[in-house]
Amino acid sequence: MDDLKLIPIINKFSACRSKTLELIKSLHEEDTVVQSVNFVSPLKWHLGHTTWFFENFILLQYDKNFQVYNEGFSYIFNSYYNVFGDFNKQENRGLLNRPLLSEILEYRKFIDLKMMELLEKKSFEKDINFLINLGINHEQQHQELILMDIKHIFFSNPLKPAYLKKIEDNFIIDSKSKNEWTLKTKKNVVIGADSDDFCFDNELPSFEIIIHPFILSEYITNGDWMNFMEEGGYTNYEYWLSDGWDFINKNKIQRPMYWIDNNYCFDLSGINKIDKNLPVSHITYYEANAFANYAKKRIPSEYEIEIVLKKNRKDGNFLENQIFREVSYKNECFSSSFSGNLWIWSSSNYNPYKGYKPIKMKANEYNSKFMCNQFVLKGGSFATPKDHIRPSYRNFYYPSDRWQFSGIRLVEDL
Ligand SMILES: [Fe+2]
Repeated sequence: MDDLKLIPIINKFSACRSKTLELIKSLHEEDTVVQSVNFVSPLKWHLGHTTWFFENFILLQYDKNFQVYNEGFSYIFNSYYNVFGDFNKQENRGLLNRPLLSEILEYRKFIDLKMMELLEKKSFEKDINFLINLGINHEQQHQELILMDIKHIFFSNPLKPAYLKKIEDNFIIDSKSKNEWTLKTKKNVVIGADSDDFCFDNELPSFEIIIHPFILSEYITNGDWMNFMEEGGYTNYEYWLSDGWDFINKNKIQRPMYWIDNNYCFDLSGINKIDKNLPVSHITYYEANAFANYAKKRIPSEYEIEIVLKKNRKDGNFLENQIFREVSYKNECFSSSFSGNLWIWSSSNYNPYKGYKPIKMKANEYNSKFMCNQFVLKGGSFATPKDHIRPSYRNFYYPSDRWQFSGIRLVEDL
């Protein structure tokens, strides 16, 4: 690889590492230690784990002089990679009062230094280039997780502290056009990654399918959700999948996550009145499916969403906009955008494409072992970095998950 191609990756690495620190700069050390529930990780763990990733996948493999930074860190910051040996269980991450945040920040500095030395070398193999990009994209995924997790951590505190000051809504809300998209005639489309740029293994190989005519709706709003609740949405079993009905009854779920009651909700700026015009967020796949049945529509397939994203590439509300919450589709800046804002649930199971080959090298466990019982989500959210996402990107969550920044669009067949 030539020098010109190396310069951007050094810059991208350094920008990505700085962005992670920027996300926690307004927080205090105490904020970074708490694990509110098993699926949430303490913020200081994210800082250590993303660093561990570069140490183990790159430095220990490609820098002959590199020695393990700290054996204990190798154990506590490994998330789930059996290839690197035993690791601390996720539910025990909240016990990590030690190492101190300052020690983790020192670890980050040391690994950054070693990575920069490696990145400045002139000759580069294809494999290492891919792994560096994987490490950067991995850290970007954790940037979104940091915002998801701090929201849950602050919401779980009875004092309901805020991550940021109140968001002043100065947006012009006057778009007259509908943020929906129609495929008028049956079409042959290519699904999957469509360029030579970095992508995850789960976006390949690409393939052709036929898509039948449909309309993809605007986001379902909080106002729509209030109507659903008033009309017995959570009490009429006829709307619900069996697993979903059991799930909401067992867990006493009667409204979206982070709604304090039917008037107020919690977001990254604290407690606010629920805005009926904003898209509804933090709902499970089960709730999305129940709403689709109530509305006599259906949840789109991942292919239908992907074709809409490929035909509409205008940037949406991403992390770079620093809005830190979903916006209304009537917002003039984003009225013709279909990406960002909130991930959209698809009805597609997270399965491998025909001919799928997991990443070789030690990163084999990155995606492949999670292809069971999850659904694909598309498009990104306000917490997703813009250069992390593309139309073929496949995010995935269990149908009962709802702490991610996800919303609903529905489909009507034509
Ligand atoms: Fe990770």
